[in-house]
Amino acid sequence: MPDINDFARIGMEVTAEAGRLLLERFHTEFTISHKGTVNLVTDVDLAAEELIVSTIRKAFPDHCILAEERHSQNRGKGIVWVIDPLDGTTNYAHGYPVFSVSIGLEIEGEVEWGAVFDPTRNELFSARRGFGATCNGIPLGVSQTPSLGASLLATGFPYDIQTDSRNNLDNFCAFAVRTQGIRRAGSAAIDLCYVAAGRFDGFWELKLNPWDCAAGSLIVKEAGGTVTNFSGRPASIYEREIVASNGLIHAEMLDVLTKIRDSKSEIRD
Ligand code: IPD
Ligand code: CA
Ligand code: CA
Repeated sequence: MPDINDFARIGMEVTAEAGRLLLERFHTEFTISHKGTVNLVTDVDLAAEELIVSTIRKAFPDHCILAEERHSQNRGKGIVWVIDPLDGTTNYAHGYPVFSVSIGLEIEGEVEWGAVFDPTRNELFSARRGFGATCNGIPLGVSQTPSLGASLLATGFPYDIQTDSRNNLDNFCAFAVRTQGIRRAGSAAIDLCYVAAGRFDGFWELKLNPWDCAAGSLIVKEAGGTVTNFSGRPASIYEREIVASNGLIHAEMLDVLTKIRDSKSEIRD
């Protein structure tokens, strides 16, 4: 069995180091380019990814890398580092201080370790499968909110929101009138950590990529939460829909998502 402690130590160090780089460059001039109409990338995304990838390659030359910007072709079997060097690029580009670094470690198809660092709040979330989740070393636990009506949820919207009707606006409207509120903060990795910390009671999103949710999903599960797809089956990080909650409101969340999906297919039929 590989030494996960060794991997986690390097992973934690480089997550924090990349986060510090994001923060240092936040108030400096950086270049912004478009990957799509509303999908941005900055040179800081690229610099953080280079830092993370070069550190991991040096320490573990035989591991695979799956990173958002320039190394997404390297999905492989065995040991795979799943990396979002800057989760929350739209926020970052606009000067809105909510963004993170997210790194997950997948071994033979199972996420075994993950960390998310929010450098503006200096919060380093992490989890190892079977060992619980922590924030800055303090154990995390999901909320005890018992019902959807008493919940605060989080979500986000895909970058093809303007061109594809499967854009989450229908789900957003349905939850907006059934909860105490919904937040769209702009970093899925932070949203998931906040479910783990009991700050949100639930989160859902569609069309996420593995690097958005690899670490955060494990952190929620290790904090005692539930993570599934919209049908209630355990969610793979490669599946493009996710529901994460404190467990207590999970069935109610799935019920809302199913009703919306069924009502759309009735209209199509
Ligand atoms: C995005 C953020 C956002 C979510 C988007 C993601 P990026 O990641 O996590 O909250 O709504 O779906 O793509 O592009 O900033 O790394
Ligand atoms: Ca992301
Ligand atoms: Ca990103």
